[in-house]
Amino acid sequence: MPGLLSSPVCLTVICFLSWSLHPSCAQIWTDEVSDVQYGRLGSNVTLACGNSQIRIPVVWRLNQSSVLPWHNMTSDGRLILLNVSQSAQGNYNCYDNRGLLLHSINLRLGHPPGLLSISCQVPNHTHVRCSWADFVKTFLPGQYNATFRGSGTEWRPCIVDVTGRHCDVDHPPFWQPIHTLRVTETNALGSRTTYVNIKLYDLLKPDPPESVLVKEREGYPTRLIVSWNFPSSWPLRDAFPLVFQIRYRPHGSIYWSEIYSEESHVEIFDALAGHLHQVQIRARDEVNADSQWSEWTPLLLVRPWEVHSTTNPVEEPDDLFTDYNFPFNTKPETSTPKSHNPIHDDEGNLGLVILLVLFSVVILTTVLSLIFVVWMRQRRRDHATKQELTSMVKMKSIPI
Ligand SMILES: *[C@@H]1O[C@H](CO)[C@@H](O)[C@H](O)[C@H]1NC(C)=O
Ligand SMILES: *[C@@H]1O[C@H](CO)[C@@H](O)[C@H](O)[C@H]1NC(C)=O
Ligand SMILES: *[C@@H]1O[C@H](CO)[C@@H](O)[C@H](O)[C@H]1NC(C)=O
Ligand SMILES: *[C@@H]1O[C@H](CO)[C@@H](O)[C@H](O)[C@H]1NC(C)=O
Ligand SMILES: *[C@@H]1O[C@H](CO)[C@@H](O)[C@H](O)[C@H]1NC(C)=O
Ligand SMILES: *[C@@H]1O[C@H](CO)[C@@H](O)[C@H](O)[C@H]1NC(C)=O
Repeated sequence: MPGLLSSPVCLTVICFLSWSLHPSCAQIWTDEVSDVQYGRLGSNVTLACGNSQIRIPVVWRLNQSSVLPWHNMTSDGRLILLNVSQSAQGNYNCYDNRGLLLHSINLRLGHPPGLLSISCQVPNHTHVRCSWADFVKTFLPGQYNATFRGSGTEWRPCIVDVTGRHCDVDHPPFWQPIHTLRVTETNALGSRTTYVNIKLYDLLKPDPPESVLVKEREGYPTRLIVSWNFPSSWPLRDAFPLVFQIRYRPHGSIYWSEIYSEESHVEIFDALAGHLHQVQIRARDEVNADSQWSEWTPLLLVRPWEVHSTTNPVEEPDDLFTDYNFPFNTKPETSTPKSHNPIHDDEGNLGLVILLVLFSVVILTTVLSLIFVVWMRQRRRDHATKQELTSMVKMKSIPI
């Protein structure tokens, strides 16, 4: 029995081992033999069958297939691929007339680097991040080297991050009006440098304010209190003050009201009593009028304080403001009794409980019957065994 059991296990292990070893052997083989050759898309690419003296004629194969892209063969066995496209990429092998592998080339095609499209972000006075993208896709991995300087000063590195899509400068010379960034992209087919001039003050754009809170003021149906924090990436609060713009409107209105503040809180005095309001804030460097406003913070919704009548709670429809002229139309409060009914909820809960109980009863019954059936079978079998033992001698005479 154990022998029988273990032989399929043995077979499986052998199969698995051979399957897992085979590709890694193949991998080592290709890594050792094939050179990587790069070519420009749309050009003629010449593949040489090794550099040693070779026996003519040679046979070329692409990915083990004899179907080759548009080509011409020279008398010394070189393969010239004409006007190559992406589909000509792959592993090229050349063999002598006896089928012996002479050389292997992995062909990769693309374009040399072109100009880059570069944009820079300046979230505070101590940091610049510049990001770039290829105008024309190269299809090949590139490496980037970036440097940065103020007019008339030394080039200093702009540290390129591991993804190769952006670089960072800490403590840029902010006092200089114009800065130059140069980024060099290099790939297997060439290299290209792109220059951009940037004005740090024009690009200065804080991150949006953080931890925005909007609250009602108790006892005042037309007031709201708004508070927030400076963006955490804007550290030098005293040296570089920010100005904040707060805007608000009743939900559904198209007209915003605006307040400017240098503090990190304001009180709104003219909210529309009884209505939901939308509130947003953004920030800008206070000193420099050329700098940019941050993005707006996400919309916050808040309702001013109201007198809550316990007998007659107010419920307002959401589309109240679709054709509303803020802020002069004071629509009378429409008081609709709330449809909320506690008895109805209780009925729902009761139904759920009954369902649950029924469900448990069904499960319990099923389990009990299963146990009973199993127990009965066991008993019957025991009984039969006992009978068998006692009447072993007269076995033949027992009717089946
Ligand atoms: C590629 O080769 C063909 C034929 O030899 C020639 O006509 C063509 O000009 C070549 N193209 C380039 C880009 O060199
Ligand atoms: C292919 O090669 C032959 C001989 O080497 C040459 O005469 C012919 O012009 C070539 N054709 C192309 C399209 O390059
Ligand atoms: C090269 O191929 C491109 C498209 O792959 C085609 O537009 C172009 O006409 C071809 N050039 C020649 C000389 O065949
Ligand atoms: C050959 O194989 C490579 C890698 O496996 C693949 O990228 C390429 O498209 C294949 N080329 C052809 C012509 O099948
Ligand atoms: C980047 O470019 C600078 C200036 O051109 C050069 O000194 C530096 O060696 C380059 N670094 C790399 C990694 O290519
Ligand atoms: C400036 O902003 C960058 C990016 O958000 C941040 O990493 C850096 O800490 C900020 N500078 C200071 C001095 O906080």
